[in-house]
Amino acid sequence: MIAVVGSNMVDLITYVDRMPKPGETVEAPDFQMGCGGKGANQAVAAARMGADVLMVTRVGNDNFATHTKENFAANGISTKYVLDTEATSGVAPIFVEKSSQNSILIVQGANAHLSPKDVEAAKDDLAKCSLIVMQLEIPLETVYFTIELAEELGIPVILNPAPASPNLDIEKILKCEYFLPNESELGLITGMPVDSIDQIRIAAQSLVEKGMRNVIVTLGCRGVICLNKDGVFDLPAHEVEALDTTGAGDAFIGCFAQSLDAGFTLRDSLKRATFYASDSVTRRGTQYSYSLAEDLDFPV
Ligand code: RIB
Repeated sequence: MIAVVGSNMVDLITYVDRMPKPGETVEAPDFQMGCGGKGANQAVAAARMGADVLMVTRVGNDNFATHTKENFAANGISTKYVLDTEATSGVAPIFVEKSSQNSILIVQGANAHLSPKDVEAAKDDLAKCSLIVMQLEIPLETVYFTIELAEELGIPVILNPAPASPNLDIEKILKCEYFLPNESELGLITGMPVDSIDQIRIAAQSLVEKGMRNVIVTLGCRGVICLNKDGVFDLPAHEVEALDTTGAGDAFIGCFAQSLDAGFTLRDSLKRATFYASDSVTRRGTQYSYSLAEDLDFPV
């Protein structure tokens, strides 16, 4: 079983021909509401790939909370630790341009209340998991606490440092087993340039030298680079026609986690994740775009 300690949001996705300028009103051709949030997306992707998933998260006291809980249950995800909060649920207004590029605003809402105590309360169930997956849409103190708890329990952590936080304390996350930033997150975290593949490698290597075990930089349509003490390898992305890239990074992490949990090697897990993420960008929406394992013909 995989645990996801993380966020959930309701995504309000507007498909735009162009973004309005300040003070301007522009008509947009299409809208879609769906479940999102990086934590929930990663949990749903892992579940659709066949993993048993336990979600530790907080929802608000509104209709969005009901919608989110029903969605977890519909995807077979345990809602034992989907906790109610006197706050609004997390929401994410998203704008997707014709180029398939997206811009996302997040309002953390209840996610800002997920505390170390909440994670501690789930300890007995977390102890039964083979992996713990986290992102940064919850308080950093909760992320640091969970990494320490996972270390105590002997459970590897996958940390996706998204959205990038300038306050992230590298020393407190060195114990995570798999660290998966994209290039802009890597740049912010290391304070190093990431304009070329060589620069990205040097920045990622600096984290390995600090003690990070596996640094995996996701580069969208340019694939991934993986660095650890044994060396470096990269994998290409699959060529597809992208319609909507919203949540593709989360599809990648969810499939990566499920593949590791299922016993695939690091390299094969990354290959599968690359394939799964590429497939997701060919459809619109966040979780709507995630396939079931049986509908895909994986290369590995
Ligand atoms: O990574 C995509 C996700 O980022 C969206 O689902 C949105 O909710 C934000 O968390």
